[in-house]
Amino acid sequence: MATHRESMHGQWSSRWAFILAATGSAVGLGNIWKFPYMAGENGGGAFVLVYLLCVALIGIPIMMAEVLIGRHGRRSPTNTLMEICKEQHHSQWWQLIGWSGMLVGFLILSYYSVIAGWTLAYVFRAGSGTFTALGGDAVGKIFSDFISDPERLLAWHTIFMGLTMVVVARGVKSGLETAVTYLMPALFVLLLILVGYAMNTGYFTEGLSFLFKPDFSKISANGVLAAMGQAFFSLSIGMGAIMIYGSYLPQDASITRSSIIIALADTLVAILAGVAIFPIVFANGLDPAQSVGLVFNTLPIAFGNMPGGAFFGMLFFILLAFAAWTSAISLIEPMVTWLVESLGMNRVTAVVWTGACAWLLGIGTIFSFNLWSDYTINKMSFFDVLDYLTSNVLLPLGGILITIFAVWIMSEKSTREELSISHEQGYSIWRFVLRYITPVAMFFVLLKVAGIIGS
Ligand code: TRP
Repeated sequence: MATHRESMHGQWSSRWAFILAATGSAVGLGNIWKFPYMAGENGGGAFVLVYLLCVALIGIPIMMAEVLIGRHGRRSPTNTLMEICKEQHHSQWWQLIGWSGMLVGFLILSYYSVIAGWTLAYVFRAGSGTFTALGGDAVGKIFSDFISDPERLLAWHTIFMGLTMVVVARGVKSGLETAVTYLMPALFVLLLILVGYAMNTGYFTEGLSFLFKPDFSKISANGVLAAMGQAFFSLSIGMGAIMIYGSYLPQDASITRSSIIIALADTLVAILAGVAIFPIVFANGLDPAQSVGLVFNTLPIAFGNMPGGAFFGMLFFILLAFAAWTSAISLIEPMVTWLVESLGMNRVTAVVWTGACAWLLGIGTIFSFNLWSDYTINKMSFFDVLDYLTSNVLLPLGGILITIFAVWIMSEKSTREELSISHEQGYSIWRFVLRYITPVAMFFVLLKVAGIIGS
């Protein structure tokens, strides 16, 4: 029996605590805010199909790789990679994956907190009955007025970042388990209520066929890349967030089963959000390709026109803000643990530094919706550039390096031991998929983007 390390930052109380925390990280704005508008911008069904394929063939195997690397090293991603390289005599350069992961988490957090701030603001709008009996135009105007006011956005961004910093400073494990145990199912129920509303709009089948009838003429090469990037973003993989959560995972917990449960829960929430939103889009003659405002321009129509809508609306945005919060925590955890381990900072100082810098960078995102909206590179605003760079470039790149590390660099013995899949075939399938299928699938996407294969 091999000896196993222990994490200096503690351990989850059980496999379920890990599954809940990782689901808390995965389910967030990516599912309810981003997935629907990405699907809307990229033509619907074909995007959704590519997305689902990416989750199954690329996402789940990479998630397993991240968790096993994390559990094997039991430290911050950077130090985990360094330790494993030392132990197995490989180049220390592999720790670069950890460095780039910390940077990516930080970049994502900067804008994630801004958007999460929007959901906080909407708690009060929905609760005060602002949306009662409004139609699409009025709801749209409320949103566009809101995002054109930098001061208000800054206030909500500051509140959200502050809340995130408080939890991370106290240590990730306390409270997270309870929050996720009760809030996730509640969010799920509210999504079902919204789907119920969508069923009565008279446009339910239009919504479903938009989402599930693939029309490949509507998806561009960039759409395929966006679907892959979205899979990374939504599952929280490619930067070490799941790796750090894996480092707190008890030794006897099954990595395979946990990863599949997390991915299924994450995908289900995204699909439900789409099923709730698109019938409302079509019933109100709205544009499915309206980018970042989609969820804020559609769901309030539902809340404004259903019985008890002010209450359900308020509850929905509270739960969405919670979901964003449990995701944001995982974005800075790798950097915070690294500062604690390697620079000997105490946890609170590490959190204050990381949070303050991400807050500052977030101001760029705020301005890109108002003061700087005319400054674009290649038609992309500051926010668009950050989002594209992180989701479509850096996360997949991190993912491919993590994959190479897990199946070509780490010894077969240690990965086999961590995964401890009881059927011999299970392990071989995982290794085969990560060695050959995942890289080929990712390469295929790259070729498509480069225009080398048919668009
Ligand atoms: N997955 C989260 C969402 O869907 C966002 C997120 C949290 C994330 N941690 C991450 C994305 C790490 C990429 C990497 O909202």
